[in-house]
Amino acid sequence: MNILITGASNGLGAELAKRYKKEGHTLFLISKSQPTLGDYNYICDVADFEKLRGLIRDITTQHTIDMVIANAGISYPHSNDFMDFESFKHTIDVNFISIHALLEHILPQMKHNRKGHIVLISSLASIVASPTSLAYSSSKRAINSYAQSLRVQLKPFNIAVTNIQPGFIKSNMTDKNRFKMPFLMSLEKGVDHIQYAIDKRKKEYAYPFVFATFIKCIALLPNNLQDLILSKLLKNPQAT
Ligand SMILES: NC(=O)c1ccc[n+]([C@@H]2O[C@H](COP(=O)([O-])OP(=O)(O)OC[C@H]3O[C@@H](n4cnc5c(N)ncnc54)[C@H](OP(=O)(O)O)[C@@H]3O)[C@@H](O)[C@H]2O)c1
Repeated sequence: MNILITGASNGLGAELAKRYKKEGHTLFLISKSQPTLGDYNYICDVADFEKLRGLIRDITTQHTIDMVIANAGISYPHSNDFMDFESFKHTIDVNFISIHALLEHILPQMKHNRKGHIVLISSLASIVASPTSLAYSSSKRAINSYAQSLRVQLKPFNIAVTNIQPGFIKSNMTDKNRFKMPFLMSLEKGVDHIQYAIDKRKKEYAYPFVFATFIKCIALLPNNLQDLILSKLLKNPQAT
C-alpha cells in the first residue's frame, strides 16, 4: 500500500511510519522537520497551505495514495488566559485547515479509483472541551464534524474515513504538560490502538476505554453540570 502520513518525524506519526515500513508499505512522509523513515520524505509546514497543496498535487500526479493519515498536530501550553490571536489561528491551521489542503488532490484520485482510507487524528479533548486549551479542543472538535460529513459523502466511493480520538499518550506533545495526565499510555500502546482502529476500518474510535467512557458520560450531562466539572479544572490549571 502507498501510505501518506503527516507529522511523521516524531511521536505517533513516526511510530506508525516505523511499523508500516516494517510491514513493507511504501511511505510518503511529511513533517516540519525532516522525516527519515519514508521511501519519500518531505519537509513541509502543513500550515503553509500553498506549499502543501502543491506538494500533494505533485505526489498524486506520480503516485496513487491508498491511505492518508492526517496526524500532524500541535498544542500550546495549557492556560486560563484568553489565547492570543496568532497562536489560536496557528493551532486551527495546523490541526484542522491543513487537513482540507491535504485531501484536495488525494480525494479525487481515491474517488476515481473507488477505494481509499482517510485517517484523522482527533482527541478525547474533542468530546468534552478542555477550558485550558481553547484552540486545541476547538480544532479537534472541528475534526469530528469534518470526519462525519466526509464519511457519509465518501461511502458511495468505497472510501473509508476513520476518526481516532486518543487520550493521553507519551510523546513530545504530552512531555510539555505539567499536570498529572489520567490514563497516560506509552507511545507503543497508544499506537497499537491506532493501528487496530485502522485495520478494523473503524468509523470513530475513542480510547482508552475507561477514560473515553468517562468523558462520553460527562458529555451527556446537562450543560450546567458539565460547566461545574470543567470549572474545577480552571481554578487550578496546574492540576488539569
Ligand atoms: N500525544 C497525545 O497524548 C495525543 C492525544 C490525542 C491526540 N493526539 C494527536 O496526535 C497527533 C500527533 O501527536 P504527537 O503526540 O505525536 O505529537 P508530537 O510528538 O509533538 O509530534 C507531532 C508531529 O507533527 C509534526 N508537526 C507539527 N507541526 C507541524 C507543521 N506545522 N507542519 C508539519 N508537521 C508538523 C511534528 O513535526 P516536527 O517535529 O518537525 O515539528 C511531529 O512530527 C496530533 O494531531 C495530536 O493532536 C496526541
